Order: sequence, then structure tokens, then C-alpha cells
Amino acid sequence: MSPLLWWRDAVIYQVYPRSFADADGDGMGDLRGITSRLDHLVELGVDALWMSPFYPSPQHDAGYDVADYRDVDPRFGTLADFDALVTAAKERGLRVIVDLVPNHTSSDHAWFQEALAAGPGSAARDRYHFRKGLGVDGELPPNGWQSVFGGPAWTRVADGEWYLHLFDTSQPDLNWDLPEVRAMFEDVLRFWLDRGVDGFRVDVAHGLIKESGLPEWTAAQVPITSPGAEHRTPPMWDQDGVHEVYRSWRRILDGYPGDRMMVGEAWVAPAERLARYVRQDEMNQAFNFNYLMAPWTAADQREAIESSLAGVEPVGASCTWVLSNHDVVRHASRLGFAPGYSTQGGIGDDDPQPDEALGLRRARAATMLMLSLPGSAYLYQGEELGLPEHTTLPDDVRQDPTWFRSEHEVRGRDGCRVPIPWEADAPAYGFGPSGKTWLPQPSDWARFAADREREVPGSTLSMYTEALRLRRKHGLGQGTVEWHEAADAIDFRNGPVRVITNFGKVPAPLPPGEVLLASGDLAADGTLPPDTTAWLRA
Ligand code: NOJ
Repeated sequence: MSPLLWWRDAVIYQVYPRSFADADGDGMGDLRGITSRLDHLVELGVDALWMSPFYPSPQHDAGYDVADYRDVDPRFGTLADFDALVTAAKERGLRVIVDLVPNHTSSDHAWFQEALAAGPGSAARDRYHFRKGLGVDGELPPNGWQSVFGGPAWTRVADGEWYLHLFDTSQPDLNWDLPEVRAMFEDVLRFWLDRGVDGFRVDVAHGLIKESGLPEWTAAQVPITSPGAEHRTPPMWDQDGVHEVYRSWRRILDGYPGDRMMVGEAWVAPAERLARYVRQDEMNQAFNFNYLMAPWTAADQREAIESSLAGVEPVGASCTWVLSNHDVVRHASRLGFAPGYSTQGGIGDDDPQPDEALGLRRARAATMLMLSLPGSAYLYQGEELGLPEHTTLPDDVRQDPTWFRSEHEVRGRDGCRVPIPWEADAPAYGFGPSGKTWLPQPSDWARFAADREREVPGSTLSMYTEALRLRRKHGLGQGTVEWHEAADAIDFRNGPVRVITNFGKVPAPLPPGEVLLASGDLAADGTLPPDTTAWLRA
């Protein structure tokens, strides 16, 4: 193994295949499209890309409903396209991470179809969580568990049994107590490792194991579990048994040459609880959603940073940082919302257009703060352009199952999944040759197009590129945080760089020293305006 494992300070760029680049012109992105745009990632200066699912799927949850774990959906291309993508990425020095969805299959998966056909009591049903219902005729669900997307977590099949789905009805939960299920996923890991992937992003990593007996839990779903004296861990999340699964996977990864890794999507709090996923013999990283959700105040941000660093310290893992992904409102919009608007799952009731200028100013400051922290950072496609959420999508184009299962109460995640703009003057802003897009793009996105921003000093794309260059040059990802006390500001030193973010309402003085980069213009008198981050030579 290399002295510094590559992921410990890597910047990893999330590609959402549906919306990155469309080579075949059907309006949905594809693998050849991704390959054609890899140079963008090289110019940006990231270390790796993680691709959300591109496997055969009915796409009821945008591909997080996998019908075949060992192939490519024809919408996205072929296995040969995948191999070509990996080759092209490696030639450019980029690592490749793929998404693994082990908590549930698609209802189109051969196993689920077999389970439906085989009927109650069959071995095929045992691969999932089938139960008899309650009530005189079993007409009531086996328990009150709720789906994360809204509505009951149980659906009844024709013969009267019910199956568990923590997400959409098309996503039946697998029974991870069964050795056969474990063996299947071990094969899937090997399949992609053999094709050269550097790692896996593990979907719903906190969900695989359910408390035995599926005890009652009627509380509405919350994305984070906070075990403590006052309330116990929900029976569907963060069960101790998940860790044995990750230990076995780690043994497989470690058996391959070239430092393969896993990053867990585990909505688990507090940080010490999350740290259990990244013990020495388990996953290598876990997403830090506590950081993503921290309110935009100096105290909250500092608390999130300190608790994150402290959380992983005892287990020797590196911290991760993330501000946007395909499940949350883009941070360029989120940070401009009035307090109280939701971080996840959509926009508030009256769907306001946020204060775009404020959101972008804060987003740029937040990004520079994030990229100055030790550990690894995850970027979501388009954030390097300062893309806002699409907050005014017409309801009739929405596709997120959240929108349907919540009976149109939660607008869902489509607003952060809109195809991204590459060229200001091309149809669909260069997303694909036909001008078609599976979700409509706002009419004023030319100003965010990569080709336009590339020409403009101080554009968000320029800022990201320069921040990544400086981060690498000064080893910020491998550094440590030494705090300076500050009112309404974050102020710390990481190696040769002093980092200051002003969260206050008035400009803050800057200490003497060369300003290496700032997220916005400094005031004429050299002070740091509100909602701005500066990196200085310490
Ligand atoms: C987390 C994924 O990020 C999200 O997009 C998906 O809907 C759920 N897991 C279910 O797979």
C-alpha cells in the first residue's frame, strides 16, 4: 500500500450519469458522454470521479433501483463503454468509483420476480422481507414502518403477503441475514473490481440489517439516527450487524492490488456513531452529512468541523466533507434560503426562488472553507459552475418518487438533477447533440456554462480550479486545523495557509499576509466582506 492512501485527501467529483453529458442524443446522459467530458475533470483538478448508478433499471428511483448489478443499462451504454471510460479515466490519472446499491433491488430484479412467482414460504421469498399482514384477513401492513419517500414501507402482493421497502414500492429491501444475499454482493464487488474500479460508494450503508423481529416503529422517517439515552435506534437503521458486512467487503477489497476503497452513505449521527463505519477493518470513508447540514453560522460551522475531526480521530480514518449531492438542494441555493427551509428532499411549501446572489456568495465561501479542511472532499457535478437548484420545475415533469409517494407534498430532488450546461450557445447548453434533456433546463443558464466561465477570471469555475490547485500545492488535505478565536468568523491555520470565513454582517479585518485566494472581492480597505472566505499565506 502507498504511504498516503490516495483517498485520504482526495477530491472526488460526483457524476450523475443521467445529467452529465449525452452522447447519443436521447436527452439522458450516458457513459460515452462522460468519457467525452473527462478533460473537464482534469482541468478542474480532481482526483477521482464517482458515478451514480448506470446499471439496468426501470429507473423508478433514477437508477437506485437496480435490476441487474453486473451490466450497464442500454440508456447509458454498454459494458464496453464502461471499460472505455475506465481506460480513458486512468490515462488521465483519474480514479473511478462506482455506486453499489445493496439495501434493496429493483422489483424488476430476477430475484424479486422469482419471489413473486414462488409464493409464500418459498426460499425465493426469504431473500426479501415478506410477511403476513395484520387484521382479520391480513389486510393491514405487518407493522407501521414508513417509507423514506413517504407512505407505508409495506406493499401487498396478489397472494396477500406484504413486502418491505424502505424506499419506493419498486425497491424491495433485501434480507441480509441470508448468506446467499451476502455471497451475491461479494460477487458483484469482484465483478467491478476485476473491471478496474478503484472503489464503491455504498448506498444506504446504515440500512442493510433490520432489528430481528422487525419491531414496531411508527415515527416518521428521519434521515439521521441519533442513538442516545432519550431515544433508541430505529429498528431499520444503524444496526450493529451491518459492520460484519463491511468487514467482509474490506477483506475482498484489500485482496486486490492498487488501494481500492469504499465510502459509505450512512445517515448516522452523532459523529462517534458514524466513526464505527470507518474503523480500520471496515469502510475507508463515510459521507459527512452532519457537516452538509450545519447551519451557516460561525458557531455551527466550527462545531461541525470540530466534531467531525474528533469523530474519526480515534479510529484513524480521514474526514470527508460534502456540500451538495443528487439528494439535497444545491448549496448555491440552499445557503440563500431563509432559515428553516429544508436541506434535503426539496424546497419549502411556497417554493421560493432563493436569494440567488446571497446563495452563490455563501456557496463560494462555503466551498473554499470546505476545500481548506484536512481530509477528502466530495463535489457534485455543476457546483463548480455555481449552479443553483432549479426551483421552478413544472410539476408535470417531476420524476422523483418522493414527489409521488408524498402525494405531492414534498417536491423532491429533481431540482438538483437538471442536465448541466457546458456551452453557452449550443442547444441544451451543449448537454447533448439533440438539444433534448430529460428535465428542462432554466432558460437563463448560459451564464453558468462551463465554456463561458472558463474565460472569466473570478468565475466560480476559476475559483474552484485555483482552490484545488492551491489545496494540492499546500497539502491542505493532509494538514491539521489550528484554531484562532474569532467572533462571527471561522479562523484557523492549516499548515502554510490561514483560512478565514466571515459569517458576520459587517466586514472583518484580515491579518497581514498575502491573500492567496478569496471567494469574493475584498473591500476597498482590504477587509473581508460578509459571507466571504479568504486563504492567506500564514
Ligand atoms: C440514497 C441515494 O443517494 C438516493 O438517491 C436514493 O433514492 C436512496 N439512497 C435509495 O436508494
